[in-house]
Amino acid sequence: MGSQPTDTKRRYEYELGHTDRELRRLATQAALVEPFTRSYLQRAGIGLGMRVLDVGSGAGDVAFLAAGLVGPAGEVVGTDRSPMAVAAATARAKEQSLGNVGFVEGDPANLTFDMPFDAIVGRYVLMFSADPVAMLKGISKHLKPGGVVVFHEVDWTGASSFPPAPTYDHCFRCIVDTFHKVGTNPYMGLGLHAAFIKAGLPAPTMAVSALAGGGSDRLSGIDLISDLAVTMAPVMEQTGVINALDLQPESLQERIRDEATTNGSVVVGRYEVGAWARLTQSSTTGR
Ligand SMILES: C[S@@+](CC[C@H](N)C(=O)[O-])C[C@H]1O[C@@H](n2cnc3c(N)ncnc32)[C@H](O)[C@@H]1O
Repeated sequence: MGSQPTDTKRRYEYELGHTDRELRRLATQAALVEPFTRSYLQRAGIGLGMRVLDVGSGAGDVAFLAAGLVGPAGEVVGTDRSPMAVAAATARAKEQSLGNVGFVEGDPANLTFDMPFDAIVGRYVLMFSADPVAMLKGISKHLKPGGVVVFHEVDWTGASSFPPAPTYDHCFRCIVDTFHKVGTNPYMGLGLHAAFIKAGLPAPTMAVSALAGGGSDRLSGIDLISDLAVTMAPVMEQTGVINALDLQPESLQERIRDEATTNGSVVVGRYEVGAWARLTQSSTTGR
């Protein structure tokens, strides 16, 4: 029993990091949240000709977004410790004939690069780190003086429904409980402010957005939350949060939609939090 938390965490990371299903789920999620990430990257100053490091690139969507912003004169290096993610992202870059983006396997805090970066970006990655402050410090050493760090993380403080849609509320509470059990931080989004400062970065500029809508709204994020719950169901069961069958995964999405429609509810997704900060020209943060 002594090894259970480690085994659970390992299984969780497998469920959420390395399967074809998860890479497809990340791509679907990416399409829904892309406008938020794009806005945070643009507001942070990511633009033409910049050299960008993407931390925890997964299926590559943030790297592809950044590649579009920096244009052919710029360059994006995506990094992920999962070889399966790196292979999938590399294949997608080839499919799209993107010449200004490449992917490297490993934890960027421990990797060396030929040249420093103008910007470091990351989405949905610090929440999985046992020590996000150390991770921010570790990656900041790859940044040029005057460079910018921008992260997009979620914060489940904001998830709610009004008037209540109990199945939706139960679903996101199970997700949050499971995150706690496996050592993932469901409140990393609003935690970015303190994490930047503790890592020696300037206090970040921040913004909060959320998906929201009614039961029939395809952009409400109901699909995103119910799909995440289905992905996590085996881990919910293993950690004792719920009996996976109680979730009735095959009908979950439809039941939430029907309930929200019947109750006239607006469902609000997790907060999608952006935080960005620029080093001063003389800053040696992270070095
Ligand atoms: C939830 S996915 C997000 C992927 C992508 N950023 C996106 O938003 O679509 C998190 C990814 O970060 C990777 N990851 C987590 N910690 C990492 C670390 N310390 N170094 C490199 N990759 C990491 C995981 O392998 C996984 O592919």
